Amino acid sequence: MTGEIELREVEVKLQEEVIIPRVSLKLEGPGLVTVIGPNGSGKTTLLRTIMGLIKPVHGWVLVNGEDVTGNPEAAGKHIGYVPQLSAFNKGFPITARELVESSLSLRLKPLRLRTPSEIREAAIRALGAVGALDYADKPISSLSGGQLQRVLIARALVWDPPILLLDEPVSAIDPAGKMEMVELIAKLSREKLVLVASHDPGIYARDSKLIVVVNRGIRLAGPPSEVLDPRKLAEVYGDSVMLVEKCVHLVDGHAA
Ligand SMILES: Nc1ncnc2c1ncn2[C@@H]1O[C@H](COP(=O)(O)OP(=O)(O)OP(=O)(O)O)[C@@H](O)[C@H]1O
Ligand SMILES: [Mg+2]
Repeated sequence: MTGEIELREVEVKLQEEVIIPRVSLKLEGPGLVTVIGPNGSGKTTLLRTIMGLIKPVHGWVLVNGEDVTGNPEAAGKHIGYVPQLSAFNKGFPITARELVESSLSLRLKPLRLRTPSEIREAAIRALGAVGALDYADKPISSLSGGQLQRVLIARALVWDPPILLLDEPVSAIDPAGKMEMVELIAKLSREKLVLVASHDPGIYARDSKLIVVVNRGIRLAGPPSEVLDPRKLAEVYGDSVMLVEKCVHLVDGHAA
């Protein structure tokens, strides 16, 4: 199964402020969908709502046909999630490998994993796939931002979910590692529905089938060739869109 997400008239308010006005959207896998928008535009809110972590004041979220509105446990049966780094609490006293293993332990039956060594091997394979083996046995509290992001990606993909939701998953990873990780994300999107929130549409543009531009609602959606048009983006981003030798760059000082 490749995955499907449907929002039906979803409206989200946070502390009385409308962050997402009524939107309807259907995304079908496989493929990479990139969500872009300025700081505070509602990217994380959109992903958390799909994950069931925020309950909309109106509307429904369906994932693979199941109503997961405000129900993270139900959404978690279909979706591997990488939270934005700034929102992840790394104070929990476990190692990187244990964090990845915990994602499997929740799903032993459907995965047909039985013994601790099978779980350990699966976790090690996932950590290897994201280049994080060197620090597999370190406490997560001691990892750098980029190291932790690799481990969080391993945790999301270790159980082979049909859908991945990735919130700025490579924001702290160094440039070489970033390109490797984007390649991995693109490869995964050949079989899964992958939704990635990013400040940098450029790094995913080649591999995205759809770019969704949000700013307190969905402002634009379409293939990269249509959406990454400086004039259209300027309507959402204002003066921070620069055209540099036919590449669109978004000037943004956001760190994570
Ligand atoms: N728990 C909360 N309570 C109240 N308001 C919130 C809460 N979380 C986020 N917001 C507000 O909702 C708006 C959207 O935030 P969100 O984190 O979704 O934006 P974003 O597009 O992901 O931004 P960034 O690019 O900085 O990650 C912001 O104005 C933010 O202040
Ligand atoms: Mg965010």
